[in-house]
Amino acid sequence: MSTHVLTAVAWPYANGPRHIGHVSGFGVPSDVFSRYQRMIGNKVLMVSGTDEHGTPILVQADSEGVSPRDLADRYNRVIVEDLQGLGLSYDLFTRTSTRNHFAVVQEMFRTVHRNGYFVPKTTMSAISPSTGRTLPDRYIEGTCPICGYDGARGDQCDNCGNQLDPIDLINPRSKINGETPKFVESEHFFLDLPALAEALGEWLGTRTDWRPNVLRFSTNLLADLRPRAMSRDIDWGIPIPLDGWRDRPDKKLYVWFDAVIGYLSASIEWARRYGTTPDEWKLWWNNKEAHQYYFMGKDNITFHSQIWPAELLGYNGQGAAGGAPGAFGELNLPTEVVSSEFLTMSGSKFSTSRRNVIYVGDFLREYGPDALRYFISVAGPENQDTDFTWDEFVRRTNSELANEWGNLVNRSVSMAHKNFGVIPTPGTRHEVDAELLRASAAAFDTVGEFLGRSRFKQASTEAMRVVTLANRYISETEPWKLGGDPERQATVLHTALQVVDDAKTLLTPFLPHSSQGVFEALGGSGVWAAQPRITEVTELEDDVEGVGVPPIRDYPVLTGDYVNQEATWARTEIPVGRALNKPVPLFPKLDPKLGETGPEWAPIL
Ligand code: MF3
Ligand code: ZN
Repeated sequence: MSTHVLTAVAWPYANGPRHIGHVSGFGVPSDVFSRYQRMIGNKVLMVSGTDEHGTPILVQADSEGVSPRDLADRYNRVIVEDLQGLGLSYDLFTRTSTRNHFAVVQEMFRTVHRNGYFVPKTTMSAISPSTGRTLPDRYIEGTCPICGYDGARGDQCDNCGNQLDPIDLINPRSKINGETPKFVESEHFFLDLPALAEALGEWLGTRTDWRPNVLRFSTNLLADLRPRAMSRDIDWGIPIPLDGWRDRPDKKLYVWFDAVIGYLSASIEWARRYGTTPDEWKLWWNNKEAHQYYFMGKDNITFHSQIWPAELLGYNGQGAAGGAPGAFGELNLPTEVVSSEFLTMSGSKFSTSRRNVIYVGDFLREYGPDALRYFISVAGPENQDTDFTWDEFVRRTNSELANEWGNLVNRSVSMAHKNFGVIPTPGTRHEVDAELLRASAAAFDTVGEFLGRSRFKQASTEAMRVVTLANRYISETEPWKLGGDPERQATVLHTALQVVDDAKTLLTPFLPHSSQGVFEALGGSGVWAAQPRITEVTELEDDVEGVGVPPIRDYPVLTGDYVNQEATWARTEIPVGRALNKPVPLFPKLDPKLGETGPEWAPIL
């Protein structure tokens, strides 16, 4: 039976190119998962886009001397190209600066408000004494009142992960000019988390099989639920759809309030553009049998296991204040928040300012997508912070991809191609053949079980075990010495090719580009593993309230035809007699020197 699976992928900020740390959190894991889900026949909707509001965009636009809109346009395109290059199979990768997104966010706000889950509150808001302009959270730095870390920002402490308000900071200072901000009264809408606490706890209580670190962190958040401001003194963002607010240029919705709604708005945009009906998104959002998996780095957990579920519960009218769902109907809560830890470099976070950074675009140009996808899957920060080293990258690529997997494909297909030209007809199998075939067939269950639970390290390791067994089999049976016994030679090579074919299926979620190559080397034609494409679309018509509504313009999106690919999660018996193609090397070996020096564009310092 096929299930509707929403793969909800965290939205990268459009404030710069993405580095490999970013895509190790949200990118590769979500794609490996989605590809597997499609292969077992589930109906996957994989959505995301660029996150284009808030101070992260403003800070960068200021420093580049461009408008926030121009900045977002530029990096949206860069990010779309990088994610496509990596082969991330989004059904829709869009952006938060669309009219569709504005309209969906405003509908969410109005309903949560009508249901009584916003409390207006007057707060102390920071302004710059020298310019009189408001100073958004991220422009303020100081000492964290919780852990004492000195580089905490007004919105969050990166050291202990707690959310903060600027006024909580000890010794606050402006990031722009170092002055001490002045605090003045300002009215804001607070999401009434205490009124949603019981419902949140009940929901989280049913979520038992998450990664333990994510569940523990999320459960701890429940202990201290306070109302949280969902509006900001800022002129870049989505207008607040209420009388007296919508036309104020200085008040907008908080970026995180709008960004998480992107999962819903992108699903709706997908249905309006590509669905069989414009309502098709409901199959992932209103249908109780559907599953929703959210992928991100750990700095996003709070927003996905607390703020977003709270918005959904408030929209559905399921908190202490009661209420009823709005136009979208009763919306599903996350099935699982799948979070990774951080990928670090030389023990610290990737940092653009300290040039301690490896950009996805540079990486792809030099080494292609699959080596990076593999590295992140097998050696990434799945359960703990993990250091990226060029040495380890070279070692994994050369020994596992080139020597083990590439070499297995190359020698078995070449030998069969040279001796038979086609997939040979096997004779009677010996026990050693049957044993290998059994092990390989059994891997579909073991690897599949791990993939279904987002255990990517274990899944990729188990898939590679089949490759190791097949290499050992070839070394033991020595088919190159069987020229005098063509039937036995045909049997051994047929067995080897069948297991190569199995392994390429098992590795498809991780290595979709090279699996396509193996499929073709074995004489297959057509699309084995579909890839995303970039298309330019025109803004859809929508009713949006207030000032600062996005202009009608074209923008690039990622989408693809994944339903018609050949890949399925099962052994296919390789057809005897089908012509083989001479294989091209799948994974060029890297110069071991790279491990010591790094590439020119990211030298080891
Ligand atoms: N832009 C945020 C970040 O890079 C992630 C937003 S995920 C969201 O940390 F979809 F929930 F918004
Ligand atoms: Zn802290």
